[in-house]
Amino acid sequence: MAGPLTDRHVVLGVTGSIASFKAVDLASKLVQAGALVDVIMTYGATQFVTPLAFRSITHREVVTDTYDVSSEFANEHVALARRADIVVIAPATVNCIAKLAVGLADDPLTTTVIASSAPLLVAPAMDADMYAHPATQENLEKLRQRGVTIAGPAPGRLASGLIGMGRLLEPVDLLGHISATLGRTGDLAGRTIVVSAGGTQEPIDPVRVITNHSSGKMGYALAEAARDRGARAVLVTAPTGLPDPPLVEVVPVQTAEQMADAVKREVAGADALIMAAAVADYRPASAADQKIKKSDDELTIELAKTTDILDTARGDFVRVGFAAESENLVANATDKVRRKSLDLIVANDITDADSGFGSDTNRVVLIDRELQVEELPLLTKYEVGQRILDRVRDLLSPSTT
Ligand code: CTP
Repeated sequence: MAGPLTDRHVVLGVTGSIASFKAVDLASKLVQAGALVDVIMTYGATQFVTPLAFRSITHREVVTDTYDVSSEFANEHVALARRADIVVIAPATVNCIAKLAVGLADDPLTTTVIASSAPLLVAPAMDADMYAHPATQENLEKLRQRGVTIAGPAPGRLASGLIGMGRLLEPVDLLGHISATLGRTGDLAGRTIVVSAGGTQEPIDPVRVITNHSSGKMGYALAEAARDRGARAVLVTAPTGLPDPPLVEVVPVQTAEQMADAVKREVAGADALIMAAAVADYRPASAADQKIKKSDDELTIELAKTTDILDTARGDFVRVGFAAESENLVANATDKVRRKSLDLIVANDITDADSGFGSDTNRVVLIDRELQVEELPLLTKYEVGQRILDRVRDLLSPSTT
């Protein structure tokens, strides 16, 4: 199953920081995601982690010395630079950042950076005071101006014991930044794609809600896929428990009404709206102010209809709906395309075990406004997202940006 990093050449530069050990996990996650990872370590990095650790994970030679005659790098020291789809430096020390800003090439890593035209991602890790120093800030700004992606650092507990800004981003977040950086010139660059996700929660009283089994995974995967094609991805999401995807603008909501307001706001000027959320069709007519106490044997809750967000969100943007059906899949979904005048609907059979709530895969049928039906095979939700976005791209009018 293909993802954003499948078969991509990643040069992973590791510099000497206590956070160097996290780069081993990052290398492992990159390899698991299908990337070909060439690791270059500075001398400082080898004092924290051994090259063997990286070689064991990547199954490739690890470069540590420009002048090692037995190394492939010595013979053709720009080979890695040319082969790279992206150069990632994680962790990047204050010294490394300064060298990059000046353009020094005094070790295999900085030599590779200078020789490469691939996008560069720098993930700083250092003590808070070093990060806050004007020299570091100026150097980072210089790199930003040059188009370098600066990922992090994050706030938190630092090796010095201080709490502050300077922690290396977690490997899972770095993966998101790497995918986004690889895709920033993709076919949705300059576009804004609004995606809704999750099951809305409609309060009965201060402790109880009416909700559904939506996991939110499809909507999150869609937002990530849009980000990885260069789009500005806006994710209007009901509570899901899923971590915020890096570099996606997350707008948290709870109820159908809040989602309607947020979607209305976010679609202004957007290029597409993809409603993957499972929006409650009914909500308690009025939520009790206090917790409802147990009294009689029966309790009746009056429900009121919610606004149909997709139906009412009309404008100069592509509109995509989802139809989760338990019977008559194509007939029911086709009816929704007509009723809501959609450009595309993504229909899935929720009784299929591979496509059920919470699964990482989905088997869907796409039905467009001409009522053409395309059955997709079983795919990961990320891949389904990519196929939906292929259709969205084809539906978009030529960009004026
Ligand atoms: N939808 C919406 N607002 C609602 C209900 C649904 O925007 N109040 C959107 C969903 O996000 C989805 C599409 O409409 O993209 C279809 O949702 P679904 O619940 O399957 O269909 P309904 O139109 O509500 O029809 P029914 O529940 O009768 O199947």
